[in-house]
Amino acid sequence: MHIEVKSGNILEAEADLLIVNLFEGVTRPGGATGAVDSALDGHIRQLIALGDCSGKLGDTTLLYTLGKLPAPRVLVVGLGEASEFDGLRARVAAAKAIRAAKQAKARRVATIAHGAGIGGMHPIEAGQALVEGSLLESYEMPAARSGGEDSSRVETLTLVEFNGDNIPLLEAGVQVGRIIAESAMFARDLAATPSNIATPTYVANEAAAMAEETGLDIRIMEWDEMEALGMNILLAVAKGSDEPPKFVILEHNQARAEELPTIVLVGKGVTFDTGGYSLKRTEGMWKMKYDMSGAANVLGILRAAALLDLPLHVVGLTPLVENMINGHAQKPGDVYKGMTGKTMEVISTDAEGRMILADALAYAGRFNPDAVIDQATLTGAISVALGEQAAGLFTEEEGVKARLLAAAEATGERLWPMPMYDEYNEYIKSDFADVKNSTSPDRFAGVSTSAKFLQHFTEDYPWAHLDIANMSWTNKARPMYPKGAAAFGVRLLVQMLRDWQ
Ligand code: BES
Ligand code: MN
Ligand code: ZN
Repeated sequence: MHIEVKSGNILEAEADLLIVNLFEGVTRPGGATGAVDSALDGHIRQLIALGDCSGKLGDTTLLYTLGKLPAPRVLVVGLGEASEFDGLRARVAAAKAIRAAKQAKARRVATIAHGAGIGGMHPIEAGQALVEGSLLESYEMPAARSGGEDSSRVETLTLVEFNGDNIPLLEAGVQVGRIIAESAMFARDLAATPSNIATPTYVANEAAAMAEETGLDIRIMEWDEMEALGMNILLAVAKGSDEPPKFVILEHNQARAEELPTIVLVGKGVTFDTGGYSLKRTEGMWKMKYDMSGAANVLGILRAAALLDLPLHVVGLTPLVENMINGHAQKPGDVYKGMTGKTMEVISTDAEGRMILADALAYAGRFNPDAVIDQATLTGAISVALGEQAAGLFTEEEGVKARLLAAAEATGERLWPMPMYDEYNEYIKSDFADVKNSTSPDRFAGVSTSAKFLQHFTEDYPWAHLDIANMSWTNKARPMYPKGAAAFGVRLLVQMLRDWQ
């Protein structure tokens, strides 16, 4: 979708469809909506009076201009109650409107920025919200995109603004929104790509191409280097596959590492999770191509950090492996010593995510970080606990927790704090190693024990773990999250980084 900002009167826009908006309870619309209403001899006011145009958040009403305007159709999207309006609702309105425009088969769409008028939003924020809502809602996974011309795709979205002074501000917002949405879509593409294509090597190559485009520093560690570092817990997973593992290290502002705060982001990158010898059931296994969503997110966030030129030293670490079965594969009962020198016992080869993260979190300590945040599709148990409503947040650091919760509130990418009681360590005590990778024989506290396992391998830095297993693949579409790969966490963490200072 091509997006442009134009100064002028939306009544004169040459488009297949005009988008204007309405707050709930307004009976005499003002601004652009009022102007359209007058040009249509009070049509919108009549619809409101009849109860056919409610202004409820995301409700859309389509009307025809019958030659009274150059554009043949107008779509009125509801913004909800004015007192409740915020950036998230502006995004939802943009998403719902673009969905309705697509259903109307409009190819050229002109819109106003939702909330920039009586909504009281700053034009930069309004421009950003419009673009994020529109692009993320219109996202199609690679297989759908390659399926030829879809005549109902919106081709151009023109943001029309009456007040010329606002144009540079809207443009700045549009640029920020584009960077963030495209970074999330980059992550969605990676997560949606089947694992026969998206191998560790492929993902590392994509990271390298992205780094080249954005100016990020990149280093890709191969097997030998990981072995030399003692990353034997990570390699225990990797050795079961013919695909060589990769460990991607991306850095934004590497040269200014000393003077800027350092934030390390770690993402689980299991390009496919069969479960290993603790084999998964067939049903649902196909989805395990998205078991590298944490890694995909980290690549997307680093992309955004570079393009937004954030004044931070941001490091992205993505251990990339395939969890398979061969003659060398790890087995339950095996004991491995990782980079920290601590040992772990394998109970389930299907608890592989925490294994690769153990060595990645150990490596994170090398950057002397102000915070380390990992994202991982770590447990099925988080879905049982939270459904598709919020990712699990595990941390004992109040500062990082507050920053993450604020970003969650702002972006609508919700987090719910989960307990990390030390007593959970009892559940993963091993008779043969410092810790075991899963509880046995029962499955008590499957989410909290996974976080406690990770904590064993963190160094002395503020740390938070996000279990995004329940949020990374959208099964039931929501505004901005069509079915499929979600890249849940990209907007969240970009927001946290932008607000860091
Ligand atoms: N990748 C899975 C977790 C997962 C499950 C993500 C379903 C998305 C949807 C992870 O590697 C895994 O297999 N976890 C096990 C842990 C258990 C063996 C302790 C699980 O949740 O069953
Ligand atoms: Mn697994
Ligand atoms: Zn997994």
